[in-house]
Amino acid sequence: MQKVIAIDGPSASGKGTIAARVAHALGWDYLDSGALYRLTALHAQNQQVAWQDEQAVADLAAHLPVAFSGSQILLAGNDVSQSIRSEQIGMGASAIAALPLVRQALLQRQRDFLGERGLVADGRDMGSVVFPQAALKIFLTATPQIRAERRAKQLNIATQSPEFERILADIMARDENDRRRSVAPLRQLPDARLLDTTHLTIEQAVQQVLDWFQS
Ligand code: CDP
Repeated sequence: MQKVIAIDGPSASGKGTIAARVAHALGWDYLDSGALYRLTALHAQNQQVAWQDEQAVADLAAHLPVAFSGSQILLAGNDVSQSIRSEQIGMGASAIAALPLVRQALLQRQRDFLGERGLVADGRDMGSVVFPQAALKIFLTATPQIRAERRAKQLNIATQSPEFERILADIMARDENDRRRSVAPLRQLPDARLLDTTHLTIEQAVQQVLDWFQS
């Protein structure tokens, strides 16, 4: 058994916020694995490497010039904490995440986040591939409408706007991409607990995870 809580689920389900708060409550480290896929997509774009070029993208992923300092993420020395969060880079992340060599290149880097303290890791394959021996596995979800509303709120976008419809469509397209790919498809594992946050506050969701962990 690893000192890991693995939280997987579709985009904008609240994984990041909940995982970070659970990590804080336990005094553990936190891994945002999606950030590594987003960083790889952005790095490829900056280097003018096509997202479909599996070998070239995998080579970039293997040597990502990234530094995490507090909430800041630096790529080749530039603060990209905001720019990696765009839906365009989200789509790029989803595209390169379907390439087996890219996933392989990022595997050890993700495992290296587990130190003495314990780790809360969020993503799509934390419980299935990266930390299969995790002490607790959770599949975190919410309806697409609610997830789009949460993402819109983060981006300061009104829910009655064309931009909102685009966010909803992007979220659904990315989920579809993540579910249908042949490597590490997004799905609930038989040994994962289902946490549907559609009607839960962040605090309630965090408490549920802690209760499961402590029981
Ligand atoms: O923030 P959001 O939940 O929208 O996405 P993310 O966790 O930042 O991940 C961006 C994309 O990276 C996802 O759509 C997945 O395709 C991919 N990803 C993955 O394949 N495996 C992971 N462990 C994490 C992310």
